[in-house]
This record gives sequence, structure tokens and C-alpha cells, in this order.
Amino acid sequence: MLDARALPKAELHVHIEGTFEPELIFEIAERNRIAVPYASVEALRSAYDFTDLQSFLNVYYAGMSVLRTERDYYDLTAAYLRRAAADNVRHAEIFFDPQAHTARGVPFAVVTNGIREALGDAEHELGISAQLILCFLRDQSAASAMQVLEAALRDRERIVAVGLDSGEVGNPPSKFERVFERARAEGFLTVAHAGEEGPPEYIIEALDLLKVSRIDHGVRCMEDASLVERLRRERVPLTVCPLSNVRLKVVRRLEDHPLKRMLDAGLVATVNSDDPAYFGGYVGENYTRSAAALSLTDAELGTLARNSFQASFLDTVVREHYLEELNELQGGPATVSRSSTV
Ligand code: ADE
Ligand code: ZN
Repeated sequence: MLDARALPKAELHVHIEGTFEPELIFEIAERNRIAVPYASVEALRSAYDFTDLQSFLNVYYAGMSVLRTERDYYDLTAAYLRRAAADNVRHAEIFFDPQAHTARGVPFAVVTNGIREALGDAEHELGISAQLILCFLRDQSAASAMQVLEAALRDRERIVAVGLDSGEVGNPPSKFERVFERARAEGFLTVAHAGEEGPPEYIIEALDLLKVSRIDHGVRCMEDASLVERLRRERVPLTVCPLSNVRLKVVRRLEDHPLKRMLDAGLVATVNSDDPAYFGGYVGENYTRSAAALSLTDAELGTLARNSFQASFLDTVVREHYLEELNELQGGPATVSRSSTV
């Protein structure tokens, strides 16, 4: 049995603010002289009992509100990268939510400077590469998203793509068609959370109106056979987050998760952690616990790792290097399963 945690992999769906561990929340709050409305780290962690996406988002935005200085963003990012490297993540494409910081008076550049500094240090010290994906909060207005995009145009180093996150239902991709059009015209790639809590139609809108390169989550595509066929045919990667889906009650138990059925359907699924500080596991644990719950084979685990590089925004040469490394680990290309040949 393959050690899935040790497989070289890319992580393509992780919110940097969702990697904020309770211990670090308390440490930074104290440093910034901000009161945390919980008596202890344990008390805070025990409040992580979510009924749906919105109940999580309320806690998530409260947690990140103690972040104020470049050093805070540096420490948050550095801690994630150390943890990811321990799971043999070689490359990470990391979401950040600028509006959740600028709305509190933290300048855009304070957020990006702190994060970028940590990315640069981790590249040297841990050999892990990373890029950023700026997410628009879909429960805010399109005008607000356009303002953030303007800020990013003045400060775009390492930002490879824009995305869409926060409360999904009632905030369809169509709301952001113009913003994404402008972002693409300025050279950004696009992704979007779709089909996490929202219906399959939101996935179709993200593809047709936002021209996304990947769908984040996308698990509800399984309710629409013609959409599954389209995603397979067009080889649209889906950044699936199994432990997140359990914690946010998208699925009842990990054993019920559609990940294996997605692979069986020939979809380019990847495994990711989403908000690991809140959902009980980093990416390695998402692999190992999914493998145990769904009886994933070694070949399927290899496919998931290969898909993570295939679906990444890495340069072709670097991507091929990682794919070759995975092939060697798994005994050469002859064992590559059909669904991995993107
Ligand atoms: N922001 C952070 N995590 C999220 C998720 N799982 N869905 C939507 N927005 C998010
Ligand atoms: Zn997410």
C-alpha cells in the first residue's frame, strides 16, 4: 500500500486564511492586543462544529480578523508551507481573500507583501514553489470585486489567477461575468468555487461565462450526467476537498464521498485540503483518509497525484519533471491509468 502522504503532489485548493491554527490565532491576537472571545485554544477548536458553509464562514472571517501586519501574514503563510512540505507538497496554488482584510482597514499591500515574503523564503528553504489565486467574495458586490481587481493590477507579482469563493447559493458566477472578463483581458487565469453547495448550473455558468481553467469542489456535477460527460470530454480539473465536504455537510460521511465515482467517470479530480485548520486535516490526511474510506487503489492514488500536477498552472517543463518523478515511483508509464493521461 502506497504511503499517500509521501507522494509528491501539488495542492491547488487551499485558502491561506483557512490554515490559521487556533494556537497561532491566540499568539497573533496577543501580539496585536486583540481579545479572542474564547478562553483557550481548546475552547476555540471545540467551536468548530459546522452545520453548513455559512456557519463555517462566520467563524473563518472572525478568526482572520486578528491579522493586521505584514508579519502576521508572513507567519500564517510560513506555517502553512512548513506543514504542506511535510506532506510532500512540491507546489501550492494558494487562495487569498483580499476583501476580508481591506474591509477591516488592512491595506492590500500589507497582505500581499507578508504572504509573498513567506513564499520566497519557503522556496529557498523548503524547495516548495507557490503561486497565488486572488478570490473575490461572491457574497459582496461585483463593484467591490472590480475594485480589488484594480488593486491587484498595481500589485500582481505571483498572482496567477483570480477565483470566486464565500457563500455560494444565491451568488451565481453570472454576477461576476464582467469582472472575470476584465481579469482575463489583463492576463489572469480564472477558477471558481462551483457545485460545492450550489447546483450543477453554477458549474456550467463558471465554464461558459467565467471561462475557468478549473472548478473548485464541483462535487455536485455528479447530479447531472451530461455535465459529467462535458467535464470528462473537456478534461476540466476539479479541485475536490473530501474532509471539507464532510465537515460542511455536503456529504454525510467520507464513505459516501463521490471522489471514487468521479475517478471512475474519467474526471480529472484532485485532492486538496480547503481550510485544513478548520476541517481536521491537511492535504496528506485528505489523501490517506479518503483512500481508507473509499478503498482507493495505489493506481488511483497515483492518478490523483498526477492530476494535481496536470491541473496546476506550472510551466510545462516543471510539470513534466514532477510527472516523470511520479512515473518512476510507480514503476513507469505502463502503470499509468487511463484517467491520468490528461
Ligand atoms: N472560503 C473558504 N473556504 C471556502 C469554501 N469551502 N467554500 C467557499 N468559500 C470558502
Ligand atoms: Zn475553498
